[in-house]
Amino acid sequence: MGKTEFKVKDIRLAKSGEMKIRWAESRMPVLMAFREKFRKTKPLAGMRIAGCLHVTKETAVLVETLVAAGAAVSWSGCNPLSTQDEVAAALAARGVSIFAWHGQSVTDFYRCIDWTLNLKPTLTLDDGADLIFRVHSTQPLLAGGILGGTEETTTGVHRLRAMAAAGKLLYPVMAVNDAETKWDFDNVYGTGQSSIDGIVRATSILLAGKNFVVAGFGHCGRGCAMRARGMGAKVIVTEVDHIQALKATLEGFQVMPMDKAAALGDIFITATGVKDVIVKRHFQKMRDGAIVCNTGHYDCEINIKELYAMSKKVLEIRPNNEECLMKDGRRIYLLAKGRLVNLAAAEGHPSEVMDMSFANQLLALIHMAKNGTRLEKRVYTVSKAQDDEIAAMKLKTVGAGIDKLTREQIAYINDYSSGT
Ligand code: ADE
Repeated sequence: MGKTEFKVKDIRLAKSGEMKIRWAESRMPVLMAFREKFRKTKPLAGMRIAGCLHVTKETAVLVETLVAAGAAVSWSGCNPLSTQDEVAAALAARGVSIFAWHGQSVTDFYRCIDWTLNLKPTLTLDDGADLIFRVHSTQPLLAGGILGGTEETTTGVHRLRAMAAAGKLLYPVMAVNDAETKWDFDNVYGTGQSSIDGIVRATSILLAGKNFVVAGFGHCGRGCAMRARGMGAKVIVTEVDHIQALKATLEGFQVMPMDKAAALGDIFITATGVKDVIVKRHFQKMRDGAIVCNTGHYDCEINIKELYAMSKKVLEIRPNNEECLMKDGRRIYLLAKGRLVNLAAAEGHPSEVMDMSFANQLLALIHMAKNGTRLEKRVYTVSKAQDDEIAAMKLKTVGAGIDKLTREQIAYINDYSSGT
């Protein structure tokens, strides 16, 4: 395969992609600082990285940084609806091997992953574990040459931990998702803002006064609930976990089972990582005009098959918004075909938050390049030192300073004898 082989929607979109990338660069100071540092030291020299992660302007900043650090990179998107075609074109025009376009079929999705594997990677980067699973299930011999992988998201980390527990994982992986500077920010504030953004772009509705049902009160669900409340919506949370449900209650949200919430909601968003959260019996109870969407990694949280089967007619009434006319005359609106509404209908998380997530990806890949041969075939978490370094850098860029413990305070913390 040629060095700059690519498959994108339209290479002529490159110029507009360039502008988007330039804008993202101006909002990602931590990653850009690492780019300048590693451009000189080339810690990824000789590395071949296959990546499978949403092709967005922020991802382009990461890809360019990996290249500046010395890596050869081959990339595919990790969701058939999330690729920003202008960005993919700009990366291709810059000489990156990239195989991604918006609206691709599931068959093409896997074809694109396979093309990236022609690079014979030494490192892999995933968002959802589809690439690593593809290596394991179709080209396991490649694993012998792979030093390590990284994983961006909660769902992917769950898959990888299950693979490791079953003794099936063929190389070490870093759970970038679990870094504090990733999931306490990206998952909460990123998902919260970008999911609302996706809903508004797809519907143009007023959120104030609406009943907004959030399924799941993990980091992502909490972000959605907080931001919907901020827009004046009345938020209802559904949960399967007593502790998470209690947290939602004490945050002031109503908590109830989906069977009850189904009849009340104007807007529903799933953020659970679990399949069949909204199914036929819920659709049967919904109000005329209800809007349904998902912000979890896979499109299985809303049972779309059942929704379509219940529909007399499905009409794409706006981009990313399908009107499903029920046989009883009610209309239910499905956004982004039940795929990640924040990436399919909007642009994903804002650059400022991806700055930290992707700084974590970069440092994790460098760690794997250096230490992969010494690591066990299991899922690792990033070091406290890495988290601290990124937090300190980010804090500086937002103009905030912190206090420093005195020697006496440190002694006090470590002294168990002083009390009342
Ligand atoms: N996941 C969520 N938002 C994203 C973004 N802007 N870029 C890449 N991956 C993302």
